[in-house]
Amino acid sequence: MCGLKDVYKDYFKIGAAINSVTVQNDSDIIKEHFNSITFENQMKYGVLFNEKYEYNFAGADELYDFAKANNLEIRGHNFVWHNQTPYHIFNKSKEEVWELLANHIKIMYERYGDITKCWDVVNEAVEDKSSAYLRKSPWLDMFGDDYCKKVFELARNILPNNVQLFYNDYNEYIPEKRDKIAKLINSINKDGKLVDGVGMQCHVNLYYPTIDLVKEAIELYASLGLRIHITEMDMSHFRFDDTRILEAPDPHLEELHTKTYGDYFKVFREYSDYIDNVTLWGVSDSYTWLDNFPVKNRKNWPLLFDEEGKAKPALYTIMDI
Ligand code: GLA
Repeated sequence: MCGLKDVYKDYFKIGAAINSVTVQNDSDIIKEHFNSITFENQMKYGVLFNEKYEYNFAGADELYDFAKANNLEIRGHNFVWHNQTPYHIFNKSKEEVWELLANHIKIMYERYGDITKCWDVVNEAVEDKSSAYLRKSPWLDMFGDDYCKKVFELARNILPNNVQLFYNDYNEYIPEKRDKIAKLINSINKDGKLVDGVGMQCHVNLYYPTIDLVKEAIELYASLGLRIHITEMDMSHFRFDDTRILEAPDPHLEELHTKTYGDYFKVFREYSDYIDNVTLWGVSDSYTWLDNFPVKNRKNWPLLFDEEGKAKPALYTIMDI
Protein backbone atom coordinates (compact mmCIF):
# COMPACT_ATOMS: atom_id res chain seq x y z
CA MET A 1 0.00 0.00 0.00
CA CYS A 2 1.40 3.37 -0.94
CA GLY A 3 0.28 6.16 1.36
CA LEU A 4 1.20 9.82 1.65
CA LYS A 5 4.04 8.93 4.02
CA ASP A 6 5.54 6.57 1.44
CA VAL A 7 5.36 9.13 -1.35
CA TYR A 8 7.15 11.61 0.91
CA LYS A 9 9.63 9.24 2.51
CA ASP A 10 12.65 10.92 0.90
CA TYR A 11 11.44 14.40 1.85
CA PHE A 12 9.96 14.53 5.34
CA LYS A 13 7.75 12.69 7.82
CA ILE A 14 4.00 13.10 7.46
CA GLY A 15 2.17 13.63 10.73
CA ALA A 16 -1.32 14.00 12.13
CA ALA A 17 -2.69 15.25 15.43
CA ILE A 18 -4.73 12.44 16.97
CA ASN A 19 -7.02 11.89 19.93
CA SER A 20 -8.99 9.02 21.43
CA VAL A 21 -11.83 9.46 18.91
CA THR A 22 -9.66 9.63 15.81
CA VAL A 23 -7.70 6.51 16.77
CA GLN A 24 -11.04 4.69 16.81
CA ASN A 25 -12.68 6.22 13.73
CA ASP A 26 -9.74 7.01 11.50
CA SER A 27 -7.20 4.37 12.45
CA ASP A 28 -6.94 2.90 8.94
CA ILE A 29 -6.21 6.30 7.46
CA ILE A 30 -3.59 7.02 10.12
CA LYS A 31 -1.85 3.69 9.53
CA GLU A 32 -1.85 4.03 5.77
CA HIS A 33 -0.81 7.66 5.37
CA PHE A 34 1.08 8.90 8.42
CA ASN A 35 4.34 8.04 10.16
CA SER A 36 4.36 10.70 12.85
CA ILE A 37 1.72 11.74 15.36
CA THR A 38 1.11 14.53 17.82
CA PHE A 39 -1.29 14.08 20.73
CA GLU A 40 -3.90 16.77 20.18
CA ASN A 41 -4.36 17.43 23.90
CA GLN A 42 -3.25 14.40 25.89
CA MET A 43 0.24 15.68 26.78
CA LYS A 44 -1.08 18.99 28.09
CA TYR A 45 -1.30 19.64 31.84
CA GLY A 46 -5.01 20.37 31.62
CA VAL A 47 -5.65 16.81 30.43
CA LEU A 48 -2.82 14.96 32.20
CA PHE A 49 -3.69 16.27 35.64
CA ASN A 50 -6.76 15.07 37.48
CA GLU A 51 -8.66 17.39 39.83
CA LYS A 52 -6.13 16.71 42.60
CA TYR A 53 -3.20 17.56 40.32
CA GLU A 54 -2.08 13.98 40.21
CA TYR A 55 -1.15 12.53 36.86
CA ASN A 56 -3.76 10.60 34.97
CA PHE A 57 -1.99 8.96 32.07
CA ALA A 58 -4.94 7.04 30.63
CA GLY A 59 -5.51 9.25 27.56
CA ALA A 60 -1.82 9.70 26.77
CA ASP A 61 -1.07 6.00 27.29
CA GLU A 62 -3.82 5.02 24.87
CA LEU A 63 -2.30 7.17 22.11
CA TYR A 64 1.23 6.05 22.95
CA ASP A 65 0.18 2.38 22.72
CA PHE A 66 -1.43 3.06 19.36
CA ALA A 67 1.74 4.79 18.14
CA LYS A 68 3.97 2.02 19.37
CA ALA A 69 1.84 -0.73 17.86
CA ASN A 70 1.83 1.04 14.50
CA ASN A 71 5.41 2.21 14.31
CA LEU A 72 4.58 5.89 14.54
CA GLU A 73 6.99 8.49 15.87
CA ILE A 74 5.63 11.04 18.37
CA ARG A 75 6.13 14.82 18.29
CA GLY A 76 5.96 15.78 21.96
CA HIS A 77 3.58 18.68 22.47
CA ASN A 78 4.21 20.62 24.76
CA PHE A 79 5.95 21.62 28.01
CA VAL A 80 5.27 25.33 28.50
CA TRP A 81 2.22 27.15 27.17
CA HIS A 82 -0.12 29.86 28.45
CA ASN A 83 -3.17 27.75 27.51
CA GLN A 84 -4.66 24.46 28.75
CA THR A 85 -2.52 24.75 31.88
CA PRO A 86 -4.53 24.84 35.10
CA TYR A 87 -3.78 28.32 36.35
CA HIS A 88 -3.68 27.50 40.04
CA ILE A 89 -0.45 25.55 39.66
CA PHE A 90 0.93 29.09 39.71
CA ASN A 91 -0.32 29.57 43.25
CA LYS A 92 2.69 27.53 44.28
CA SER A 93 6.08 29.15 44.88
CA LYS A 94 8.44 29.85 42.00
CA GLU A 95 10.72 27.04 43.15
CA GLU A 96 7.84 24.57 43.36
CA VAL A 97 6.55 25.39 39.88
CA TRP A 98 10.06 25.01 38.48
CA GLU A 99 10.39 21.65 40.18
CA LEU A 100 7.01 20.59 38.84
CA LEU A 101 8.17 21.49 35.33
CA ALA A 102 11.49 19.65 35.72
CA ASN A 103 9.73 16.56 37.06
CA HIS A 104 7.18 16.76 34.31
CA ILE A 105 9.87 16.73 31.61
CA LYS A 106 11.50 13.71 33.28
CA ILE A 107 8.20 11.88 33.66
CA MET A 108 7.25 12.45 30.02
CA TYR A 109 10.68 11.32 28.87
CA GLU A 110 10.65 8.17 30.99
CA ARG A 111 7.15 7.22 29.89
CA TYR A 112 7.11 8.18 26.21
CA GLY A 113 10.72 9.00 25.34
CA ASP A 114 11.53 5.84 23.38
CA ILE A 115 9.43 7.00 20.43
CA THR A 116 9.22 10.75 21.09
CA LYS A 117 12.05 12.26 19.10
CA CYS A 118 11.31 15.96 19.55
CA TRP A 119 9.41 18.29 21.86
CA ASP A 120 7.66 21.62 21.49
CA VAL A 121 9.40 22.94 24.59
CA VAL A 122 7.74 26.35 24.49
CA ASN A 123 4.51 27.03 22.64
CA GLU A 124 3.27 30.46 21.55
CA ALA A 125 5.35 32.77 23.75
CA VAL A 126 5.41 35.62 21.24
CA GLU A 127 2.72 38.33 21.26
CA ASP A 128 0.65 38.91 18.11
CA LYS A 129 0.07 42.62 18.69
CA SER A 130 2.73 45.20 17.84
CA SER A 131 2.51 46.61 21.34
CA ALA A 132 4.55 43.81 22.95
CA TYR A 133 7.29 41.32 22.22
CA LEU A 134 6.35 38.44 24.54
CA ARG A 135 2.80 37.38 25.33
CA LYS A 136 1.61 37.97 28.88
CA SER A 137 1.44 34.63 30.69
CA PRO A 138 1.89 33.20 34.16
CA TRP A 139 5.21 31.72 33.02
CA LEU A 140 6.44 35.19 32.01
CA ASP A 141 5.12 36.73 35.22
CA MET A 142 6.77 34.12 37.40
CA PHE A 143 10.09 33.54 35.67
CA GLY A 144 10.79 36.85 33.92
CA ASP A 145 11.68 38.03 30.43
CA ASP A 146 14.21 35.27 29.80
CA TYR A 147 11.90 32.45 30.92
CA CYS A 148 11.97 30.76 27.51
CA LYS A 149 15.74 30.47 27.63
CA LYS A 150 15.59 29.04 31.15
CA VAL A 151 13.02 26.47 30.07
CA PHE A 152 15.09 25.40 27.07
CA GLU A 153 18.16 25.08 29.33
CA LEU A 154 16.19 22.93 31.72
CA ALA A 155 14.85 20.71 28.94
CA ARG A 156 18.31 20.40 27.38
CA ASN A 157 19.79 19.33 30.70
CA ILE A 158 17.16 16.65 31.20
CA LEU A 159 16.64 15.27 27.69
CA PRO A 160 19.35 13.41 25.78
CA ASN A 161 21.00 15.28 22.93
CA ASN A 162 19.30 13.24 20.25
CA VAL A 163 15.90 14.59 21.33
CA GLN A 164 15.30 17.76 19.33
CA LEU A 165 13.91 20.83 21.05
CA PHE A 166 11.44 23.08 19.21
CA TYR A 167 9.89 26.49 19.63
CA ASN A 168 6.35 26.34 18.17
CA ASP A 169 4.02 29.20 17.18
CA TYR A 170 1.15 30.34 14.93
CA ASN A 171 0.95 33.34 12.57
CA GLU A 172 4.60 32.47 12.16
CA TYR A 173 4.60 33.76 8.57
CA ILE A 174 3.33 37.27 9.38
CA PRO A 175 6.49 39.40 9.03
CA GLU A 176 6.18 41.33 12.26
CA LYS A 177 5.52 38.20 14.36
CA ARG A 178 7.98 36.12 12.34
CA ASP A 179 10.75 38.59 13.16
CA LYS A 180 9.86 38.50 16.86
CA ILE A 181 10.00 34.69 16.78
CA ALA A 182 13.42 34.89 15.12
CA LYS A 183 14.56 37.42 17.72
CA LEU A 184 13.40 35.16 20.56
CA ILE A 185 15.11 32.06 19.15
CA ASN A 186 18.32 34.02 18.51
CA SER A 187 18.31 35.27 22.06
CA ILE A 188 17.87 31.73 23.40
CA ASN A 189 20.63 30.37 21.15
CA LYS A 190 23.05 33.27 21.71
CA ASP A 191 25.47 31.42 23.98
CA GLY A 192 25.04 27.96 22.50
CA LYS A 193 22.37 26.17 20.55
CA LEU A 194 19.39 25.17 22.69
CA VAL A 195 16.58 25.50 20.13
CA ASP A 196 17.09 22.91 17.40
CA GLY A 197 14.07 23.83 15.37
CA VAL A 198 11.04 25.95 14.82
CA GLY A 199 7.52 24.61 14.62
CA MET A 200 5.51 26.51 12.03
CA GLN A 201 1.94 25.70 13.01
CA CYS A 202 0.50 26.68 9.62
CA HIS A 203 -3.16 27.12 10.55
CA VAL A 204 -4.06 28.73 7.22
CA ASN A 205 -7.11 29.39 5.10
CA LEU A 206 -7.74 29.49 1.38
CA TYR A 207 -6.97 33.20 1.22
CA TYR A 208 -4.25 33.81 3.73
CA PRO A 209 -1.29 33.84 3.96
CA THR A 210 0.25 34.11 0.51
CA ILE A 211 2.61 31.33 -0.41
CA ASP A 212 5.38 33.94 -0.68
CA LEU A 213 4.98 34.82 2.99
CA VAL A 214 5.33 31.14 3.86
CA LYS A 215 8.49 30.85 1.74
CA GLU A 216 10.01 33.96 3.28
CA ALA A 217 9.37 32.59 6.76
CA ILE A 218 10.92 29.22 5.89
CA GLU A 219 13.97 31.00 4.45
CA LEU A 220 14.40 33.21 7.48
CA TYR A 221 14.12 30.34 9.98
CA ALA A 222 16.42 28.15 7.89
CA SER A 223 18.98 30.98 7.79
CA LEU A 224 19.14 30.82 11.60
CA GLY A 225 20.40 27.24 11.33
CA LEU A 226 17.10 25.75 12.52
CA ARG A 227 15.34 22.59 11.44
CA ILE A 228 11.74 23.23 10.45
CA HIS A 229 8.62 21.24 11.26
CA ILE A 230 5.22 22.23 9.90
CA THR A 231 3.38 21.28 13.07
CA GLU A 232 -0.36 21.94 12.89
CA MET A 233 -1.40 22.44 9.30
CA ASP A 234 -5.04 22.85 8.36
CA MET A 235 -6.69 24.97 5.67
CA SER A 236 -10.11 26.41 6.41
CA HIS A 237 -12.49 27.33 3.58
CA PHE A 238 -13.25 30.56 5.42
CA ARG A 239 -11.39 33.80 5.98
CA PHE A 240 -10.81 34.26 9.69
CA ASP A 241 -13.47 36.99 10.00
CA ASP A 242 -16.05 35.17 7.83
CA THR A 243 -18.70 33.85 10.21
CA ARG A 244 -21.06 32.29 7.65
CA ILE A 245 -22.14 28.69 8.17
CA LEU A 246 -22.53 26.59 5.01
CA GLU A 247 -24.38 23.28 4.82
CA ALA A 248 -21.90 21.79 2.36
CA PRO A 249 -18.59 22.89 0.89
CA ASP A 250 -18.83 25.20 -2.10
CA PRO A 251 -17.43 23.25 -5.13
CA HIS A 252 -15.35 26.23 -6.26
CA LEU A 253 -13.77 26.44 -2.85
CA GLU A 254 -13.09 22.71 -2.90
CA GLU A 255 -11.17 23.21 -6.13
CA LEU A 256 -9.26 26.07 -4.59
CA HIS A 257 -8.55 23.88 -1.55
CA THR A 258 -7.06 21.19 -3.78
CA LYS A 259 -4.92 23.68 -5.67
CA THR A 260 -3.76 25.52 -2.58
CA TYR A 261 -2.73 22.33 -0.75
CA GLY A 262 -0.74 21.49 -3.89
CA ASP A 263 0.96 24.91 -3.81
CA TYR A 264 1.94 24.46 -0.15
CA PHE A 265 3.32 20.96 -0.61
CA LYS A 266 5.33 22.07 -3.65
CA VAL A 267 6.97 24.67 -1.43
CA PHE A 268 7.53 22.15 1.36
CA ARG A 269 9.25 19.85 -1.11
CA GLU A 270 11.33 22.67 -2.51
CA TYR A 271 12.59 23.36 1.03
CA SER A 272 12.83 19.75 2.14
CA ASP A 273 16.54 20.19 2.94
CA TYR A 274 15.31 22.16 5.96
CA ILE A 275 11.89 20.63 6.64
CA ASP A 276 11.81 17.26 8.46
CA ASN A 277 8.13 16.89 9.31
CA VAL A 278 4.80 18.13 7.94
CA THR A 279 1.95 17.47 10.40
CA LEU A 280 -1.76 18.04 9.78
CA TRP A 281 -3.84 19.16 12.76
CA GLY A 282 -6.32 16.30 12.54
CA VAL A 283 -7.07 13.35 10.30
CA SER A 284 -10.43 13.82 8.62
CA ASP A 285 -13.08 16.54 8.47
CA SER A 286 -15.33 14.35 10.66
CA TYR A 287 -13.68 16.03 13.66
CA THR A 288 -11.32 18.99 13.86
CA TRP A 289 -10.87 21.77 16.43
CA LEU A 290 -12.05 24.18 13.72
CA ASP A 291 -15.57 22.68 14.09
CA ASN A 292 -15.76 25.07 17.04
CA PHE A 293 -13.25 27.78 16.20
CA PRO A 294 -13.65 30.61 15.46
CA VAL A 295 -17.35 29.81 14.87
CA LYS A 296 -19.17 27.23 16.99
CA ASN A 297 -20.67 24.17 15.25
CA ARG A 298 -19.43 24.98 11.79
CA LYS A 299 -17.62 22.75 9.31
CA ASN A 300 -14.51 24.30 7.75
CA TRP A 301 -13.39 21.24 5.68
CA PRO A 302 -9.69 21.90 6.40
CA LEU A 303 -8.08 18.46 6.02
CA LEU A 304 -7.19 15.89 3.35
CA PHE A 305 -10.01 13.41 4.15
CA ASP A 306 -13.70 14.27 4.14
CA GLU A 307 -16.35 13.81 6.82
CA GLU A 308 -16.77 10.13 5.84
CA GLY A 309 -13.02 9.55 5.87
CA LYS A 310 -12.78 9.47 2.08
CA ALA A 311 -9.65 10.90 0.48
CA LYS A 312 -10.25 14.36 -0.99
CA PRO A 313 -8.76 15.50 -4.31
CA ALA A 314 -6.23 17.51 -2.30
CA LEU A 315 -4.67 14.23 -1.11
CA TYR A 316 -4.21 12.90 -4.64
CA THR A 317 -2.82 16.25 -5.77
CA ILE A 318 -0.11 16.30 -3.15
CA MET A 319 0.67 12.62 -3.77
CA ASP A 320 1.11 13.36 -7.48
CA ILE A 321 3.43 16.38 -7.34
C1 GLA B 1 -2.61 25.69 19.16
C2 GLA B 1 -1.89 24.63 19.98
C3 GLA B 1 -2.43 23.26 19.73
C4 GLA B 1 -3.93 23.24 19.60
C5 GLA B 1 -4.35 24.22 18.54
C6 GLA B 1 -5.84 24.23 18.33
O1 GLA B 1 -2.14 25.91 17.94
O2 GLA B 1 -0.50 24.62 19.79
O3 GLA B 1 -2.04 22.42 20.78
O4 GLA B 1 -4.53 23.52 20.83
O5 GLA B 1 -3.97 25.49 18.99
O6 GLA B 1 -6.45 23.03 18.53
